[in-house]
Parts: sequence; structure tokens; C-alpha cells
Amino acid sequence: MKTVNCRVSGKPLTEVVDFGKQPLGNGFLTPYQYKDEYFFNMAVAYCETSKMFQLVDQPEPEKMFHDQYAFFSSTSKYMEKHFKEFADLILGSKYISKENPFVVELGCNDGIMLKNFAQNKINHLGIEPSTNVAKVANQNGVKTISEFFDANVAEKIVKEHGQADAFLSANVMCHIPDIKSVVKGIATLLKPTGVVMFEDPYLGDVVEKTSYDQIYDEHVFLFSAHSVQYLFRLYDLELIDLLPQKTHGGSMRYVLAHKGAYPVSEAVHKILEKEKQQGLDKLETFTKFRQNVEKSKSDLVSLLKEIKSTGKRVIGYAATSKSTTILNYCGIGPDLIDFISDTTPIKQGKFSPGVHIPVKAYSEFKSAYPEYAFLLAWNHSEEIMANEQAFMQSGGKWITHVPTVRVVK
Ligand code: SAH
Ligand code: TMP
Repeated sequence: MKTVNCRVSGKPLTEVVDFGKQPLGNGFLTPYQYKDEYFFNMAVAYCETSKMFQLVDQPEPEKMFHDQYAFFSSTSKYMEKHFKEFADLILGSKYISKENPFVVELGCNDGIMLKNFAQNKINHLGIEPSTNVAKVANQNGVKTISEFFDANVAEKIVKEHGQADAFLSANVMCHIPDIKSVVKGIATLLKPTGVVMFEDPYLGDVVEKTSYDQIYDEHVFLFSAHSVQYLFRLYDLELIDLLPQKTHGGSMRYVLAHKGAYPVSEAVHKILEKEKQQGLDKLETFTKFRQNVEKSKSDLVSLLKEIKSTGKRVIGYAATSKSTTILNYCGIGPDLIDFISDTTPIKQGKFSPGVHIPVKAYSEFKSAYPEYAFLLAWNHSEEIMANEQAFMQSGGKWITHVPTVRVVK
């Protein structure tokens, strides 16, 4: 699905960084699958009209979201708490009707957020194309259909269930290439007084922290307030509030409604202004970003080689989808990282996409601490630091690449 024009404005894109040949971010595999492993050329580009930062080429959605999707949201206790707070915010808000409200969530995964509505007996519907995770959601009492949401699915939902008070989503909108059809669907699905709240990794954080690992096959877009405003305006939906989040290394929660339905908060003006100061509305900013990415790569490879030359062990901590970009772009394989420890059963015993580092159960990390652990789930660092006191007391050190490559004790 290669594009030379912006998926939102239709205007020509300008390429900003080429990450070379990349496999699927969540494509953990066994050796007998190596010969058929899928690769695509991953480059990111910017549109000066829509301000949308996006992948040039992206695998077909069906290649990434299916009955073997490897990411189960509920593996993180921190995210459980985060989504309970998100649900509580909606439930206590002015946007929800008092009588029989209806809440829709896009990409509800295993039901991590919607279960909070299900438990409160709130009428809800999850839309989740990856059937294995959707099955878990249904088992958890979360009503979920397996579809790729778009304008047609929205019409079907309105016919069957009526319009929604709230349309929610987290870490999903940025996954969908045909985003215009999604936003058109949202405009159809939303009640005149309804609200859209969605959050995704924020371009401002990625640029500030050089966290280029947020760029991988599934993340076709990295949004900013500027680009989201441009996109939703096409369907007469208005950005009414912005709530920065700590999750996923820096995210933004966008609040939108039908034009004129609610006042626009001060935060919208402030954050749009801040984005201008950061240059998120200018192409030149991304030239500097490319230079920072290239430096991050050479610093990381030098550090790992130096550690290896002293005979010390480095283990990857958490087989994240993000890590696929770092490991493949920097050419880091089992010669530099012995194995990656991960708590998700579906990933254990497999090998990491592209560079084929073994993924092992967390118990293997715990039973023989290495000298160094490369924090591949740096976005979960608060939770991990709290859990890994024993590793640090054993003299273990962390390697991180965000915001700059360094060793942390
Ligand atoms: N909301 C969860 C899951 C994020 S992972 C969380 O924040 O933890 C992204 C999810 O989006 C996957 O479960 C994937 O199957 C789903 N997804 C991808 N494309 C979609 C589409 N067109 N419509 C609905 N869900 C989609
Ligand atoms: P993600 O960054 O793609 O969201 O994936 C998170 C992965 O990190 C998931 O496979 C679970 C793993 N993980 C651990 O192994 N240990 C941990 O403490 C945390 C927070 C995550």
C-alpha cells in the first residue's frame, strides 16, 4: 500500500526518513517461517498541507490484524489503571446522556477499557478486527464485533444500535490507513451532542525524544493537534479539547464533537501554539529529526559493541513492536543481544521479527540476571523500575536510547 500522496489531503508527500527493509512489528515467528518472512521498505513522510506525518508504504491491514495478533492490551497493569481512569472520565462527563448511553470503542483489543463500561451495565460495543483478542473481550463480557471500522461499518452500527454518545479509541486511529473513511463514519455514528475521545502516540514527543521506534508498520500516522484538526474539519467535527498523556512514552488525547456543539477549551489554543514553536507545522523540523535518528543509531550500535567486547551480557527487556524498528534499522541481532525477555505467552519460544533474536519467558531473565538490560519497553519504564528492584540491586544496569543513548543504573 505505497502512497506518494498524503492519505488526508491528497497532496504530494515529502519523504523525511528511510528506515530501510523492515518486517512486521508484531511478526514474531519460528525458524520454519523465516523463508516466507514478509518485509517492506519503511520510510516516513510529511505533508505540508495536512501536517500529517505518515508512512510511505504500509503492509495490508489484514497482514497485521488477524487471528494471531500478538499484542494483548491487558499485559500491562499500568494500562489497566489508565483505561479505568479514561472510562471514569467519560462516565462522569457532561457528554454522556443520563438515559441509556451508548459507548463505542474502536480497537478495543481484549476489552481492557470497555470492561469498565460493561461492569457498570452501560450499553457498549467494541469493534476489533483481530479475532483472537476480540474473543477474549467477549469472554470478559465486552460486546465486540470483528470488523475493520470504516464509514460502511458505522452505518451498519447506527441501523442496529442507534447513534453513540461517545466514540472512544486508544492507540488505534493511528493504525488505520483509510482514516478519512473512519472519520466520515465517526461523523455518522456520533449523536449531535456526542463526543469523540481518542489518544495516540504524539508526534511532539517523538520529535522531542527522538523516539523513532514509535514508527513501525502498524503506525501509519503520528498525529499532532494540527493534523487532527485538519482531518476532522473535513467532516465538520471540531477539536474541543486536548489532554496530554504519559502513556506510550507521550501521547495526546484528542476530544472532538460536531462543530459548534461545545466550546473550544484554552488547551487547544495553547497546544496549537506550542506545536508551532516546536515546528511541527514545518518540514525543516523533520530534517533535524532525521539527523537525530541517525546519531541515535550510531551511538546505540557503538555502545552495544563496546559492552560485547568486554564479555558482558545484554538482554532485551520486553519484545515490543516498537523494538522491531530499532533492531532492524540498527542491525542488532543475537550477536549483540542474547535474548529478549517477555511476559506474553504467544511471543515466548519465537524469534523477533527480521533480526531473529530469541524471545524467552520472563523467568529466564529473573533466574540469571545479565549485567545489562536494554529497555525496549521504555514507555513502561515506571512500572518496570518498580518491579525490577532486585535486578538493579544485583548490579544490573539499563540501556536506553530515549531521549539519548545511555546506560542508567
Ligand atoms: N486499544 C488497545 C489496543 C491497541 S492495539 C490499547 O490501547 O491497548 C491496536 C488495535 O487496533 C488492535 O487490537 C487492532 O486489531 C485494532 N485495529 C486495527 N485496525 C482497526 C480498524 N480498522 N478498526 C478497528 N480496530 C482496528
Ligand atoms: P508494546 O510496546 O508493543 O505495547 O508491547 C509491550 C510488550 O512488553 C508486551 O509484549 C509485554 C511486554 N512487557 C514485559 O515483558 N514486561 C513488562 O513489565 C511490561 C510492562 C511489558
